[in-house]
Amino acid sequence: MQGIKILSVAGCHPKKKVTNDDMAKIVETDDEWISTRTGIRSRYFCEDDESCVSMAIEACGTALQRSGISKEDIGCVICATLSGDYATPSVSCMVQQALSLPEDIPVLDVNAACSGFIYALCVARGLLEASGKTYGLVIGMEELSRLLDMTDRTTCVLFGDGGGAAVIKRDPNALFRQTLGARGGKEISCLGAGNANSFIQMDGKAVFRFAVWAMPKCIDELLKVDDGSDISLADIDHVVCHQANSRIIDHVVKKSKEDPSKFYKNMDHFGNTSAGSIPLALSELYENGSLKKGDRLILVGFGAGLTWGGVMITFGD
Ligand code: ACO
Repeated sequence: MQGIKILSVAGCHPKKKVTNDDMAKIVETDDEWISTRTGIRSRYFCEDDESCVSMAIEACGTALQRSGISKEDIGCVICATLSGDYATPSVSCMVQQALSLPEDIPVLDVNAACSGFIYALCVARGLLEASGKTYGLVIGMEELSRLLDMTDRTTCVLFGDGGGAAVIKRDPNALFRQTLGARGGKEISCLGAGNANSFIQMDGKAVFRFAVWAMPKCIDELLKVDDGSDISLADIDHVVCHQANSRIIDHVVKKSKEDPSKFYKNMDHFGNTSAGSIPLALSELYENGSLKKGDRLILVGFGAGLTWGGVMITFGD
């Protein structure tokens, strides 16, 4: 299996910040309940001129610029999302048109909920290997505020809008490991297009139990892959987990016995942006100077489906 690297990342979120105190004006809740249970203090919600597609276009434009790769060299566009503007055309196709990307390439959305960005990286890797092309654009972006029941305090306080994009490069010598899985289940669900009340519903406790099982399992499986390179968690620069809940990440840290500072957290100001959370976190790490060329990353997610996934991948050319 040939590897891929992440050459560049960029994030995007809406302008409107919504604090826990703002949410307390909508449903019966308070900052103390939300922040102690989840680590979330604020999130961003799209307004009229913003959407999943508009944010994806902005993030992709910046990621392309940062990569130095010309548009003509992009060999696939894959967007992970469950909240695209339309059921069809896909977010990826709308990005392709807006940025005048090549036509003779595969362009599609994937839905693996909060594990989506990991799945999208793996799909892109396979498509690049099959086509022999070198570069791909991988997006994780959500406008979850469209899918929130603003009368249900058990869900509406948890999610936010935003995400990011990465330019990836196929490289036969790159370190790349993946683990993907799903078990089925409606513990998190949302009715599809055409249904009234297409809102996210969730059995929070069941999802919590699943998450603290799935995330350490993914990390263990990535570390034990026998590809000739002996890599332990100490050799990894950043572990970027899906940003659903601070307590879930604390649990993963405890199990790993590693330095907590290796495990980035930013749900305090973004909430859970589902497939957007990992690229948004990567983008912040890049912008604050923590993500450097040559860094080894473990990216790990879990979500509705129930899906899980992880990759070990390098940043930089
Ligand atoms: N404000 C105040 N009280 C609340 C709120 C709120 N926003 N929401 C629920 N409560 C109340 C409940 O009604 C309940 O009250 P009761 O005991 O009188 O019935 C009490 O708080 C406790 O509720 P629990 O659901 O037991 O709270 P819990 O400690 O389990 O925390 C939470 C809930 C934060 C959702 C947690 O279960 C969790 O984080 N689960 C994981 C969710 C997740 O990670 N999802 C990611 C995947 S999403 C995707 O893929 C799209």
